[in-house]
Amino acid sequence: MALGDLPSGEDKRVRVRDMFDRIAPRYDALNRVMSVGMDQRWRRRALDKIDVGPTDLVVDLACGTGDFCALVAGRGAKVIGVDFALQMLKQGRTRGLDFRSVQGDGEWLPFRSASVDVVTCGFALRNFVSLSAVLSEIARILKPGGRTALIDVDRPAWGPIRAAHSLYFDHVVPMVGGLVSDRQAYRYLPQSTAYLPPPEELRSMMSGAGFLEVDRESLFLGSAQILTGARGPLTPVGGGLS
Ligand SMILES: C[S@@+](CC[C@H](N)C(=O)[O-])C[C@H]1O[C@@H](n2cnc3c(N)ncnc32)[C@H](O)[C@@H]1O
Repeated sequence: MALGDLPSGEDKRVRVRDMFDRIAPRYDALNRVMSVGMDQRWRRRALDKIDVGPTDLVVDLACGTGDFCALVAGRGAKVIGVDFALQMLKQGRTRGLDFRSVQGDGEWLPFRSASVDVVTCGFALRNFVSLSAVLSEIARILKPGGRTALIDVDRPAWGPIRAAHSLYFDHVVPMVGGLVSDRQAYRYLPQSTAYLPPPEELRSMMSGAGFLEVDRESLFLGSAQILTGARGPLTPVGGGLS
C-alpha cells in the first residue's frame, strides 16, 4: 500500500492508539504465533548487542504488554515501560510481570534529560507519527554514552524470499488476525511497513539525532531489523546543553 493511502499526523496517532487498545486482549498470543516465536529471540539479540546488565536504568518505549520489559528485568536491570495505549499496559499488568509502566507518548517522554542508560523499543518505529521526533526524544533522555536498540519488521530484498514473505505477512497474518482478533488492525499492521524509511535513511536519521556507532542488523532473511547506537556527548548549544 502506498504511503499516501495510510493515515498521517494526528489522525495516525489516534487511529494507532485506538487500534492497539482494541487488539490488546489477544495481542500476546497472536504475536507469538505469527512470529513463530522469533520475536523473543530478536529482543534477546537486541539486548545482547547493547550489553544490557544489572546496573542499567532502561526505558522501554512503546512497551505494549511488556515483552521487552520482562527480558530486561530478567537481566537484573531496572526498567520502566512507556506506551500510549492504556489497554496494552493493563494487559501487561495482568501477566504479573515485575516492571513499572507509565502511559506516555514517544514524542514527549516523561523523563529528565540525560537520565537513563538504555532505551529499547520493539516493533513500534512504523507506528510513530514522527520517527525523527521520537529519535530526538530518545537521545534527549539518554546519558552521554547511553545505548539504544530498536527493533522493527522489514521486507526481504531478494525476489523469491520477498514473495514468500509477502504471502505470509500480507495474506496469512491478516487472515488469522481477522479470525482471532480484529480484521482491520491485522490488515493495517503489514501495510504500515510502508512508513519505514529505507536502511540508509534510518541510519542517517539516527546519526542526525545524535547517535554514534550506528549499526543496522538484518534478521531472518531480511524480515526484521535491529538498529543500535550510542548517545554522543552532550554539546553546548547557545549556552545550554543539547
Ligand atoms: C507492535 S506493538 C509492540 C509492543 C512491544 N514493544 C512489543 O515488542 O511487543 C506497538 C506498540 O507501540 C505503541 N505505540 C505506538 N505509537 C506510540 C507512541 N507515539 N507513543 C507510545 N507508544 C506508542 C502501541 O500502543 C503498541 O503498544
